[in-house]
Amino acid sequence: MDLQPPPQPSRRGRLSRIPGQLLGKNPFGGDCLPTRVRLFAPTSKRPTLPFPHPWNYERPIGILETYFWNSDSDGPSGKHNRYLELPGLDPVLVTRDPAIIRAILTATGDREGQFDRDTLPSTGIARATGPDTLLFSNGPTWRRQRKVSASPFGKTTLFQPERFHEFAETFRKTVHHRLDALQQRLSREQATELELPIEPEIKTVMLELLTNCFFGAELSYDELRTTYVPALERVISHIVRDTVSNRLGLSVEFRARFSSRLREIQRDFQIFEQLTEIVLAQRNTDRGLWKQFQSDAPDELLRSNLKVFLAGALEATTSFATWAISHLARSPLVQDRVFSEVRQLADYTPEALARAKHLGYVLEETLRLTPSLYFLPRRASTDVNVEVSDGRTLAIPAGTHILLDVWHANRHEDHWGIAKTGFPAEEFHPERWERLAAEKRESKEMLHFGFGHGARVCPGKHLGMLEVALVVGAFVKVFDFRAANHDNPAVAGVSTKPADGTRVVLTLRRDMSNDLASSDL
Ligand code: HEM
Repeated sequence: MDLQPPPQPSRRGRLSRIPGQLLGKNPFGGDCLPTRVRLFAPTSKRPTLPFPHPWNYERPIGILETYFWNSDSDGPSGKHNRYLELPGLDPVLVTRDPAIIRAILTATGDREGQFDRDTLPSTGIARATGPDTLLFSNGPTWRRQRKVSASPFGKTTLFQPERFHEFAETFRKTVHHRLDALQQRLSREQATELELPIEPEIKTVMLELLTNCFFGAELSYDELRTTYVPALERVISHIVRDTVSNRLGLSVEFRARFSSRLREIQRDFQIFEQLTEIVLAQRNTDRGLWKQFQSDAPDELLRSNLKVFLAGALEATTSFATWAISHLARSPLVQDRVFSEVRQLADYTPEALARAKHLGYVLEETLRLTPSLYFLPRRASTDVNVEVSDGRTLAIPAGTHILLDVWHANRHEDHWGIAKTGFPAEEFHPERWERLAAEKRESKEMLHFGFGHGARVCPGKHLGMLEVALVVGAFVKVFDFRAANHDNPAVAGVSTKPADGTRVVLTLRRDMSNDLASSDL
């Protein structure tokens, strides 16, 4: 597969940096200089080495944490901005400073001197979905893809009353069937409560929403649950592994000759392909939201983007919804507050959802504390001088790999702690948003970057937010639930998720069982 080569500083530029690199000269400039991270620091007790390798790639949050190990004594800018540099290679900058994250996201795009999305951390995704997708491409290809593919997911398309009504109806059916199945399981087992990991249920609902409600296919729940979801799960974990371990970029077909694991992955890729074809075939039938898709782009141009939408959106929406359920399972008072709000909801229109304020705060707080995409990768295509909104500047040399560490930025007391928001940064407190809203500080000043920011902001933001609000709202409406485990650690791959598969103990809310029977979710 012919992947786009990432922008490279000239060979001469690289060579000319070597003496400075050997002397340990800081390659950055300006007044918020990052401080250097050592490649090896055996006595420091830091979590791991500061780069992914076959023994640590399954703990990417630990790799980011390593950059900030003991950095609190490094002064105001070094504390939140760190770099790694090895002779002959481009520097790596990691920042957890929200103002710098915002400035770099704002300066990302296809114009001269703007930042690119770094392709290095997503080579596995590109090998699985295609080289020219909206997610992976840069420059004019990205601009074209954005124009062709992003509009059907936009607010103006999705929230037209008639379209929305159709979507909500199909959705209601989907969720009703799934929750009904759980209810039947409760009565079959003559149990008052049920303990189970809820992630597989949520994942299937999320895929069904995409394939059936959004793209108009008619796949059965059983096919989705037993064939498509497991195949996509294996494809996604292969993507993460492939990015780190397949440095030569060999194809699955080639590697499958030597490995039974890869032969199984090859079959999963075929299932993924089949799912993409099923969804694409609905384009001519005008079912789902394809009616809104006014484009003469050939199917061929859409195929790889559809794969990104299917795999990426499934990951991100599952992550977001399972985190919200996981936090609510540990916060009974917040759960009660959301229940008292959603029990009144007869219709899940965008207006009704907007009135469900606490549900909204829960979702904001979920994305802040446990963002689905935990870092955003960028690359400096030329030497760039970044101007931060508070007047600081940061000069970044061409070729620098930049990791915008949203996970740690959102959890640092300096940015989201008691002094700034009234609540500890590392704890789940949706009331934080109520307070910020009362102080009129919730928008521009306090960005959590849960959907990114700037020109490459998530095009599925409105669809994703809607799906998650609907699923979490309906879940709270039907079940009372508590966490099966006390702690709530994260695992991370393409996105983050609760490590225990969102294991909860469910009880059917007695006053809602009639509603479930009448399908009035
Ligand atoms: C609700 C859960 C979702 C979350 C939390 C989420 C998060 C994000 C974030 C943070 C980015 C920015 C990446 C960056 O700046 O490097 C992004 C980009 C993207 N998202 Fe989402 N997303 C979600 C749902 C969706 C859905 C439902 C779709 C499509 C159906 C989608 C498709 C995309 C695409 C194609 C991009 C790349 C856009 C570009 O680079 O121009 N996402 N998403």
